[in-house]
Amino acid sequence: MIIKNIGELVGIVPAGVLRKQGAEMAETGVLHDAWLAVEDGKIVGFGKMDDLVGHDGNDRESIDAEGGLVMPAFCDSHTHIVYAGSRDGEFLDKINGLSYEEIAARGGGILNSSDLLHETSEDELFAQSMVRVREMMAKGTGALEIKSGYGLNPEDELKMLRVIRRIKESVPALVRITFLGAHAIGRGYTHEGYVQAVVDMMPKAAELADFVDVFCDEGFFTVEDTDRILTAGAACGLRPKIHANELAVSGGVQVGVKHGALSVDHLERTGDAEIEALRGSETMPTMLPGSSFFLGIPFGRAKEFIGAGLGVALASDYNPGSSPSGDMRFVMALGCIRMRLTPVQALNAVTLNSAYAMGLSDITGSITVGKRADLILTHPGWTLTKIPYLHQTPFLRTVFLGGRALK
Ligand code: NIG
Ligand code: FE
Repeated sequence: MIIKNIGELVGIVPAGVLRKQGAEMAETGVLHDAWLAVEDGKIVGFGKMDDLVGHDGNDRESIDAEGGLVMPAFCDSHTHIVYAGSRDGEFLDKINGLSYEEIAARGGGILNSSDLLHETSEDELFAQSMVRVREMMAKGTGALEIKSGYGLNPEDELKMLRVIRRIKESVPALVRITFLGAHAIGRGYTHEGYVQAVVDMMPKAAELADFVDVFCDEGFFTVEDTDRILTAGAACGLRPKIHANELAVSGGVQVGVKHGALSVDHLERTGDAEIEALRGSETMPTMLPGSSFFLGIPFGRAKEFIGAGLGVALASDYNPGSSPSGDMRFVMALGCIRMRLTPVQALNAVTLNSAYAMGLSDITGSITVGKRADLILTHPGWTLTKIPYLHQTPFLRTVFLGGRALK
């Protein structure tokens, strides 16, 4: 397949660049009036239309972009899209003034989702979750991470992990699986008893999961709990990606970096110590502006992180309690409008860096020869800047995942 007459081809990254940090965040390779060729689901070449001679074999299926933009599909490195039912009742509580913490303290929040999940069959959970995955792919997401964490006992956590595995095997998007047993204290457990239960779940969870996560925050799990759980995860080969510093300056960033976390996520509440801890590490700071927006809490200090030479990834956090949306274009727009990232910085945050934050940036997340052809083609007339600027105007023409147009 060859896409011709691309008005703007953005997100071009040289092979071997797995993430962008600091000043590199402001750079993206761009070609105007371009073509891009795909073979066996991978990008095999791109260039200027003027130089197309020789690549224009008649055997290739040709798509006329009519001046539309082509960019890498979105990568969403933090979601909780496997859940049962809805928490729309809590939405009313929130409108009436209760905070996330107050709703959780009344037995709502994560425990509410856990009760619903317990009563839902595995097939039904899969069916409900697939509706969300299909919606995300249709909106341009080509790679996503999905967490457990609404099971909160050994049986239901494994049920969730099996459902995520089934999603992974059913969709053209790339899926990474995270074991978040330590999302809240399961019903019927003491705090200490549940931490031990999560440690005990680890070997079975590791058969299904790629990563281990802990909600290291005030009122949930302490730094000491996190240290214990991540040590147990490492013993089973699971690298951490953790929730940190959403509700308080929790020490989560530091314990994550100490354990070589692939990412530390949320970061709505950080000081300079968190930036210092991240400097020189392999850990990707990941911010979730959809939950800042929905909960009315501070946005992450992305500009300061970037100014300090760090990379930043943005993800949706799609979940029923703090971010009921998996729209990565909206995440990108919030990155620009509320966090004051430039469109290029936001693009890097929602593609390459988010792919890095789930260990996938060697195979997706940029326009690079040899990577999967996970692409967004827009309608004619779109530029990178207009995507977050005209943030509600339909822009997508076709999403290609592994080189195939999503129907
Ligand atoms: O990332 N912060 C913890 N976990 C989710 C919310 C989960 C829920 O409320 O269901 C989050 O915001
Ligand atoms: Fe989350």
